Amino acid sequence: MKNTIVAVLVLLIVAVGGWVASKGGAYNGGEHGKVIADIGNKTNAKSVVEKEKDDRQKENDELSALRDKAGNAGAFEVSQAYKSKCASCHGVNGSGFQNGKPMMGPKLFGQTSDVIFKKLLDFKSGRKENVVMKGLLLHLEEADLKTFADEIGEFPARAAAAAAKE
Ligand code: HEC
Repeated sequence: MKNTIVAVLVLLIVAVGGWVASKGGAYNGGEHGKVIADIGNKTNAKSVVEKEKDDRQKENDELSALRDKAGNAGAFEVSQAYKSKCASCHGVNGSGFQNGKPMMGPKLFGQTSDVIFKKLLDFKSGRKENVVMKGLLLHLEEADLKTFADEIGEFPARAAAAAAKE
């Protein structure tokens, strides 16, 4: 009788052991394994700041690649008015970048004349608030805004034409 009890107990222990193993303990990639892996990932993970830096670098690289693709985007002609009034903040080609660094004004290149015109009107009327742009546009007539908008809207075509010539 004693032997039978021992045998049953042994069987039970082996069975429970098997069940635990099948559930996957720390060694089999089960719950415990996952927790341990998570801890490992966390310690290996880059800090948030570093990751953001990476992302920004990537963005910058992508922009550079785009600029390269557009040919020497600085090469196309812009009006004297754009050069003197807008280029200092938006770049000579409207890219919003100079020597790979973001400038004060955002990218204008690629936006249509209509969109630019509407944004300029919004600044002038104060519908869109920006002290810099509003002050700048105060002395410009709507017709001037239209002229600037039309010119900026032409940038991609000008860049393409300039690239084709090279
Ligand atoms: C002193 C710097 C500066 C100058 C010069 C300047 N801008 Fe801007 N511009 C800005 C800033 C800053 C913004 C961003 C404003 C915002 O979004 O709140 C802006 C925004 C704009 C926008 C809206 C862009 C967008 O996608 O939202 C347009 C269009 C624009 N500028 C056109 C011009 C034109 C045309 C000229 C020349 C007549 C000019 N800017 C001159 C600083 C400047």
